Amino acid sequence: MEFIDLKSQYKKLKPCIEARIHAVLERGQFLLGPEVDELEHCLAARAHTRYCVTCSSGTDALLIAMMALGVGYGDEVVTTPFTFVATGETIRLLGAKPVFVDIDPRTYNLNAQLLPAAITPRTKAIIPVSLYGQCADMDAINQVAALHDLPVIEDGAQSFGATYKGRPSCGLSTVGCTSFVPSKPLGCYGDGGACFTQDEALATRMKQIRVHGQDRKYHHPVLGINGRLDTLQAAVLLAKLEIFDDEIVQRRRLGSIYSELLSDVVTTPFVETHNTCVYAQYTIQLENRSTFQDQLKAKGIPTAVHYPIPLHLQPAFASGEVGRGSFPHAEAAAERVVSLPMHPYLSEGDQRNIAQAVREAAAGAWKCRH
Ligand SMILES: Cc1ncc(COP(=O)(O)O)c(C=O)c1O
Repeated sequence: MEFIDLKSQYKKLKPCIEARIHAVLERGQFLLGPEVDELEHCLAARAHTRYCVTCSSGTDALLIAMMALGVGYGDEVVTTPFTFVATGETIRLLGAKPVFVDIDPRTYNLNAQLLPAAITPRTKAIIPVSLYGQCADMDAINQVAALHDLPVIEDGAQSFGATYKGRPSCGLSTVGCTSFVPSKPLGCYGDGGACFTQDEALATRMKQIRVHGQDRKYHHPVLGINGRLDTLQAAVLLAKLEIFDDEIVQRRRLGSIYSELLSDVVTTPFVETHNTCVYAQYTIQLENRSTFQDQLKAKGIPTAVHYPIPLHLQPAFASGEVGRGSFPHAEAAAERVVSLPMHPYLSEGDQRNIAQAVREAAAGAWKCRH
């Protein structure tokens, strides 16, 4: 059994993917070809934004967005410690300081009520992360940001396709960023990402930054990066977009079934009623996680931990200011969360077997404690 089954998706889409790739190979325009333009139009329409600027990865999307907003040395950027390293890493790469705010323990997303206390005159931006496929509380975050005239960058690497109060992830704030790494709900066959915005000037700056800051060939008004999306990856994404809506329906269905089967034995995901979740991960919480993982592994069921160490406890982020105990909800989650196989091609039988194994292992873990 695979944690994420990309082969079944490929089988289903083979003719379409191969035709798209073949067209790129025949044309020979491998960087910023017409497929990139076409993809940006499709993605912007989905995110309900005027602009989409694709780029080389979700990490580079965050970097490009922050560079375009002028984040730099000595600035502070408020974010969550319970995320993939890229969220904090890109802040640090620009010479800025990540200022962490604890999470809401139910959703694992940044707790907007704690935000005002984290804002200082040095704050330059706020980066909530829409973890596991569910949007952060964007209205509450945008409200605090507006009071301080701050931009909000939604790290939607895991939530493209999700909605918040009926509006799509990545179209909910100053900039939305996403990732197309193969394991994401919408993934390509390598690295890829995108930035979304309604702001024309910001979109123009982001487009320049993704190509070494150039506004025309060999003329560079600002510093940038080599951050283009390959045309071949755009072609793959265009093919996958044809079934993306169906895949989201299936992800949501599988998420509900898992929760029905498991909510009496482990802590299952809490999805706000105003949200729809794309379950980039289906993540439960329990004690004795490593024993639990070993028991599932013995039955051929892979699991993963997203993420075992919150950023403020990572050696690369160590500072004298915050340490263990600073963000108790993030720390507790990091010790207890574990993700189960989740992808749109998970069969009913496999899902039932996984649920049965989880029930048995969770009961065993319970027995160990009593
Ligand atoms: C929350 C979050 N932010 C940022 C990233 C970075 O995306 P990428 O791996 O495409 O650089 C990821 C993906 O791995 C992620 O999950």
